[in-house]
Amino acid sequence: MTLLKIARMGHPVLLRRALEVGEPAGAATRALVGDMAETMEDAGGVGLAAPQVHDGRRVIVFKSPRGRGDDGPETAFCPLTALVNPAFEPLGDEKELGWEGCLSIPGITGAVPRFARIAYRGDLPEGGSVEREATGFHARVVQHEIDHLDGILFPRRMADLSLLAFNEELARLAEAVSESGGATA
Ligand code: NI
Repeated sequence: MTLLKIARMGHPVLLRRALEVGEPAGAATRALVGDMAETMEDAGGVGLAAPQVHDGRRVIVFKSPRGRGDDGPETAFCPLTALVNPAFEPLGDEKELGWEGCLSIPGITGAVPRFARIAYRGDLPEGGSVEREATGFHARVVQHEIDHLDGILFPRRMADLSLLAFNEELARLAEAVSESGGATA
């Protein structure tokens, strides 16, 4: 496996719409997924989308580990997952404000409104497909990564840009926000 170079905000690759993968379980997809997972773990992130490593395919990897904040319901957590051609739909209109970072915007965190509860699906690189319900950080990271496939970085989802901060200043800013628990995706 190979550590991949991560594109940073301003690189045009992050603004392009990624393309559907015709062979989700092909060897090329599996190789990409392996490299993406290794790159994400090496960088200390919890999510990564293929455009962030200069690849224009609709592929994401993510996880929502326990111990990340609270004792939420089972739907708030998931093991390391790789999805090809993923899609989601909101379950209800409720949105939650939570902190997010991004490996393509190092050192910066922002409070982003996201749907609180979603259903998502995707093809698995090992074959077959998966459908899940997600809440909490699990729902947040999936929405963040699918946005990358459509060329959208998290600041464009923010409703209040005064809640965008350098990580070192976040403790002071956090007092202004009702909920936290984000991480770098
Ligand atoms: Ni990101």
